[in-house]
Amino acid sequence: MHPMLNIAVRAARSAGDLILRHADQIGTLRINQKSKNDFASEVDRKAEQEIIRIIQSAYPGHAIVAEESGVHRGDEEFVWIIDPLDGTTNFLHGFPQYAVSIALKQKGKIEVAAVYEPLRDELFTASRGGGAMLNNRRIRVTKQNSLRGALIGTGFPFKHQQHLDAYLDMFRVLCIDSAGIRRGGAAALDLAYLAAGRLDGFWEIGLQEWDMAAGVLLVKEAGGVVTDFSFDDQYLTSGNIIAGSPKMHQIIYQSIEPHITDNLKS
Ligand code: IPD
Ligand code: CA
Ligand code: CA
Repeated sequence: MHPMLNIAVRAARSAGDLILRHADQIGTLRINQKSKNDFASEVDRKAEQEIIRIIQSAYPGHAIVAEESGVHRGDEEFVWIIDPLDGTTNFLHGFPQYAVSIALKQKGKIEVAAVYEPLRDELFTASRGGGAMLNNRRIRVTKQNSLRGALIGTGFPFKHQQHLDAYLDMFRVLCIDSAGIRRGGAAALDLAYLAAGRLDGFWEIGLQEWDMAAGVLLVKEAGGVVTDFSFDDQYLTSGNIIAGSPKMHQIIYQSIEPHITDNLKS
């Protein structure tokens, strides 16, 4: 295994164990609201500290961008991108869909990725050029080639309500023509499930880099395509993402394209 993936996996598993140890204490956790509909608990913070501890003990000089503690400066050639608990709202409600997401960007390219779902003990990993795995078995995106029969993942733009009308127009088209739409509540897992062939496509507005970085590499290494809403590769900065097998990506893009406003293209 790529040595940095090894560290990402160790950190993701350790944080996942920590999250599970707190899953029956939800009622007693200290929770703070970062903004409207955006919460963090002491579990998010502790899980993040654990991940950073493990990364820094192996690679003390690397830079880190982590959801709860922000930017930790270092050698900018290597940047770890961490979402210690993706699906916090689910976790805080005991809704069993959440994961740890860790990616390493080297010279601007995502090099390794680990998404760990502790409740199912499912570990999704990828290294650039080395394929994507679920619990060490190779995964691929589906061969689905039309919306008919397709299962599509998404997230609602609850923090970006200025885009709600455009989003609902996209939703209407895809909802009518597909077999179904799922809103799991953890974008890292949505992308991991797409890589594993459990979803045929995915789109969302307004994500953060840490929600997507690991999942994007999983999808690409599983044979999928990822773009922003301009059919370009700026999804980590724009936060707007379309992902799927090459065919499903194209179909989703063409379906929602009439509803992509100029604001969503930048
Ligand atoms: C959230 C989840 C959710 C997405 C939100 C994210 P968090 O991450 O990924 O699926 O729709 O935009 O903020 O806050 O639970 O880490
Ligand atoms: Ca997240
Ligand atoms: Ca989070």
